[in-house]
Amino acid sequence: MSHSVIVGADRGIGAALVKEYKSHDYDVTAICLEDGDHWRNEGVRVIPRIDVTDDAAVRSLAEQMEEMPIDELVHVSGVGAFERWGEIDFDVMQDHYNLNALGPLRVAQALAGNFTSGGKIGIVTSRMGSIGDNQSGRMYSYRMSKAAANMLGVTLYHQFKPQNVAVILLHPGTVATDMTKGAKDWDTFTRPAESAAGLFKQMRALGPDTPPEFRHQDGTLLPW
Ligand SMILES: NC(=O)c1ccc[n+]([C@@H]2O[C@H](COP(=O)([O-])OP(=O)(O)OC[C@H]3O[C@@H](n4cnc5c(N)ncnc54)[C@H](OP(=O)(O)O)[C@@H]3O)[C@@H](O)[C@H]2O)c1
Repeated sequence: MSHSVIVGADRGIGAALVKEYKSHDYDVTAICLEDGDHWRNEGVRVIPRIDVTDDAAVRSLAEQMEEMPIDELVHVSGVGAFERWGEIDFDVMQDHYNLNALGPLRVAQALAGNFTSGGKIGIVTSRMGSIGDNQSGRMYSYRMSKAAANMLGVTLYHQFKPQNVAVILLHPGTVATDMTKGAKDWDTFTRPAESAAGLFKQMRALGPDTPPEFRHQDGTLLPW
């Protein structure tokens, strides 16, 4: 049975991905920021209390996963933010960079030795991090930290190639989660389960010969 690891499995898209992988008979490990108790009766292995901005927590994750081979890992943890021009809080921006850009780097580095040959890493970034697709400006913290996460993904691609581990950057769509709650027309946004099904499909299509790509969960290739 293949083993998949979902980082940021407490709720939203991460929680939906745990269910999606389970439905395809994977052995699933849910890495949660909170206690993840809701997974315990679902046949999902839970590693709780992992804050991906915290070096010690991520070291502890690696210790708890020692000698546990990973076939697929999807890093989902992240935060969205709106700022008012003239009132940008640079401490908050650094916190978001730490989570959105450095979080997946911390995790990938800590678990590098766990990946099987033919393994896969997906990082959920955002279309908002696309430089080529930036047609509306604003959202400095989110755009900049997700653009950095995209750069991280391509750099990890080169890092992991000799290990025969593939890397992809993923946009989940505009999804009805807590992150987007309150947005206009929220009810019409893609459901987390639909997004997770698309993300799973992109992970399945990823192979050792796939070049570094940034893809929408619907399969569309996105500009960097
Ligand atoms: N929703 C969208 O339309 C959309 C669009 C583009 C990209 N994305 C990206 O998709 C990802 C998931 O978003 P979502 O919509 O599912 O948001 P969400 O419902 O707010 O979920 C965010 C997840 O990240 C976890 N998390 C937050 N801080 C963390 C930390 N320091 N360490 C570890 N985990 C942490 C949260 O854990 P807790 O539940 O314990 O707080 C939660 O599981 C994010 O990276 C987001 O940027 C979302």
